[in-house]
Amino acid sequence: MSLLQVISLGKEFDGLRALDGVSFVAEAGQILGIIGPNGAGKTTLFNLISGIYPPSSGQILFQGEPILNRKPHEISRKGIGRTFQIVRPFQNLDVETNVLVALGQRFYPSLWKSTQAYRKPEILKEAETLIREAGVQSFARHQAKNLPLGIKKRLEIARALALRPRLLLLDEPSAGLRYEESTQLMNLIRKVCAQGIGVLLIEHNMHVVMDLCQRIMVLDHGVRIAEGTPEEVRSNPLVIQAYLGKEV
Ligand SMILES: Nc1ncnc2c1ncn2[C@@H]1O[C@H](COP(=O)(O)OP(=O)(O)OP(=O)(O)O)[C@@H](O)[C@H]1O
Ligand SMILES: [Mg+2]
Repeated sequence: MSLLQVISLGKEFDGLRALDGVSFVAEAGQILGIIGPNGAGKTTLFNLISGIYPPSSGQILFQGEPILNRKPHEISRKGIGRTFQIVRPFQNLDVETNVLVALGQRFYPSLWKSTQAYRKPEILKEAETLIREAGVQSFARHQAKNLPLGIKKRLEIARALALRPRLLLLDEPSAGLRYEESTQLMNLIRKVCAQGIGVLLIEHNMHVVMDLCQRIMVLDHGVRIAEGTPEEVRSNPLVIQAYLGKEV
């Protein structure tokens, strides 16, 4: 059984077909790249999988179970974590507290109840492990708003991992990063995948996608126009056509 199975998924916004009959599967311990020109429907796909919008048609199975029409917090508890195109940690909290709040979500329905309750030794230890794995330990006491973007993005991944996901959705994690920052982030994503977590990676940076992903799916105008290995996708005429005149 595949970790995630998306079947004929469709989404319309006031007559605009943002996603049109998209089907694919994602497996545990693999990184599936999702690419496509601006407005192709990539973020919309994540918003449907994570329960932010209801789909217009189709079905999504996670570990064999239908998850359509579930609320975002129910879906995250089932094991689907995500980060956003625009990072959104709690800006006035430090790195450690941001991770503690995320850890608390596993146990508490409300975010704020969890911050103090979770300054227990075992939870602090778990936060420390996540912070170390994400490579942000030297920033543990820094407020999120003062962090460089590369560190913020790794904090976001640590926060998503705090919910112990089986599947992680990453929306353009390397956008805006310098080369070294992006390399460090790629290494972190590889480590996450090596733990057996499935990753869906939306990415505009072709070097990142080609280097990191076992398979790549291409969306254009809401339609899945190709899927295959990086080599297959790179030489696919439909993909070249979709990107023609656009930066590749
Ligand atoms: N909440 C919304 N209301 C109306 N239209 C929307 C909404 N969200 C997305 N759209 C439209 O759906 C289409 C797909 O948008 P989406 O954000 O999924 O694209 P994307 O592939 O993530 O693009 P980008 O690479 O620029 O991030 C676009 O035409 C967009 O304007
Ligand atoms: Mg997007």
